[in-house]
Amino acid sequence: MFTLIHKSVGLARKTNPRLFAVLILLNLFQGAFVYLQFTSFSDIVDGIAATKAGMISATDLISPGIVLAVSFVVPAIIGNVITYGRNKFRLQMDLQIDLYRIEQQSTLDIATLESSYYQNLLKGAQEWGTNSILTIFDFIFNTAAGLASIATSLVILWGLSAWLVLFAIIAATPVYFAYKKYSMELFRTRWLSLESHRLIANRQSHFDDLFKAIDVILLELKPWLHKEVKDHTEQYNASVSKGEFRKTVSYGVLSVWYLLLLFAAIALMGWKAVEGTMEIGALLLAFNTYTRFYQTTNTFIESFSITEEAVQYAARWFELFELKPKIYSRKDPTSVALSNPPTIVFDNVSFKYPSIQDDQGAHHVLKNISFTIRPGEKLAIIGENGSGKTTLIKLLCRIYDPSEGCIRINGVDLRNISLEQWQNSLGILFQDFPTYNVTIGESIAIGRIKEPVNTSRLSSAAIHAGADDFINSFQRRFDQLIWKQFKDGTDLSKGQHQRLAVARMFYRNAPITILDEPTASVDAITEEKIFLSLEKNMTELTVVLITHRLSSVKNASKIIVLNQGAILEQGTHEELIKSRSNYFQLYQKQASKYAE
Ligand SMILES: Nc1ncnc2c1ncn2[C@@H]1O[C@H](COP(=O)(O)OP(=O)(O)OP(=O)(O)O)[C@@H](O)[C@H]1O
Ligand SMILES: [Mg+2]
Repeated sequence: MFTLIHKSVGLARKTNPRLFAVLILLNLFQGAFVYLQFTSFSDIVDGIAATKAGMISATDLISPGIVLAVSFVVPAIIGNVITYGRNKFRLQMDLQIDLYRIEQQSTLDIATLESSYYQNLLKGAQEWGTNSILTIFDFIFNTAAGLASIATSLVILWGLSAWLVLFAIIAATPVYFAYKKYSMELFRTRWLSLESHRLIANRQSHFDDLFKAIDVILLELKPWLHKEVKDHTEQYNASVSKGEFRKTVSYGVLSVWYLLLLFAAIALMGWKAVEGTMEIGALLLAFNTYTRFYQTTNTFIESFSITEEAVQYAARWFELFELKPKIYSRKDPTSVALSNPPTIVFDNVSFKYPSIQDDQGAHHVLKNISFTIRPGEKLAIIGENGSGKTTLIKLLCRIYDPSEGCIRINGVDLRNISLEQWQNSLGILFQDFPTYNVTIGESIAIGRIKEPVNTSRLSSAAIHAGADDFINSFQRRFDQLIWKQFKDGTDLSKGQHQRLAVARMFYRNAPITILDEPTASVDAITEEKIFLSLEKNMTELTVVLITHRLSSVKNASKIIVLNQGAILEQGTHEELIKSRSNYFQLYQKQASKYAE
């Protein structure tokens, strides 16, 4: 817990160290200052008794009266200042954590992001959201006030009778252990049920996705969803209720324990007052202080236990923040000229997905892959579903590193080249491409986000991708917002989205452009247009194209046929046709279907 507090303080120092320090000081002050109310009131009570006995005059009561007034006014003012300051600090912290998260997560590699370890960590952290870290700050401030208050009350009690201190400590200690035990138990229950929470969230999300919602209706999934959500939630609720019950019972027993000790303390003080060794004012002071002590320790311990739970979630955040990518640039990368397309060599590359362990049936998804792409070549990769096409380009983009063999760029091992420089020279459109909720123009220009938007390039990219026709149908053209939930926003068809994604690649105009089934959702006429544009407008650039439609790859410089992770054959269309290869048979089959 203390390491986490230390880390949180580090975060606070990055955010607003001055405000943080001021808040700690104000809380310390506030915690101790309230006792002035009790001491000055007890002075007044004793003063009144002394006035009655004729020992002092009534005017002597003026100054303790003023102190009493101050002891109420000052904490009231400071209390408001603290509330304002804490809210401000919270907002700043919240933003800082969000920014930190974006920064950290975008440095991670895909292998880490898709690992179940990372997913569990993220889910665990999100369970409490950033609140878990903010709770630690609340705890730090409450602790400042609580400790100051507890210390002051113990000093006051000690001044009155050492016995009172002993009673106070005996009353408070078991409360701490009980809180600790039961809150940890509840935490473990929640932690162990993460998997089932994820499942519940997944089942509930069936209505977030329009097509899943349609399935719910057409396939009558309602009873199944209902049962899944009900069974898992009830199971979870039952274990939480059990924990809550045990917690409640133990707290009940403890409050009786505390009351017994309070009665003992009252009896002791009462006896001292009767005996005459304690003034009435001191009796009042002792009673107020003792009660206040218990309230403060109780709140303090409770916040301690809440924080212990929050700490478990916050630990996940910090663990996430501290994750280091497994794929990164070497400190002294070899420099390679990448402004023009380089020669790319796959040298006996094999690959296993790192997310799958050997005992879970990990196998080579790619086996002994060797081929060369010369600058400006158009390489086509074809093969059945699951043959390893997408995986191969993931290696080329260095989303993963090969398990064996190596990829060389102008003779240099890809692992020795600066990752940033390499990624800058790539334009990749994956088959599961993202759609952006921005304007049409921005969605294309995002391909070169670091540069100011070039409108003529935007228009030609749209034309090459065959997207100009539907863009022109919008009154706002490139300024049309693709976001149905927003005013004046619209939604696009899947094929239109894909055409925009292709336009993004034309706009990016990277030395190496990689397209994984870029026309899967596009109609045949637009598809032909896109492939013609690729040939005509990317003459100098290297293009790697994955497709299932063989008519599109006829003009490729080289065609690689993958089968179960291995290269079955490679060559130009003519060569492969001539050798009556598998490609030839497949090609004939597709061609005859069209002829029919
Ligand atoms: N992230 C992953 N983790 C583990 N295995 C994976 C992962 N992605 C793909 N695979 C496995 O690797 C193999 C090759 O998948 P890949 O996506 O490369 O095929 P593909 O040729 O692109 O297929 P498709 O034509 O369907 O796009 C498949 O058996 C798949 O199950
Ligand atoms: Mg694929």
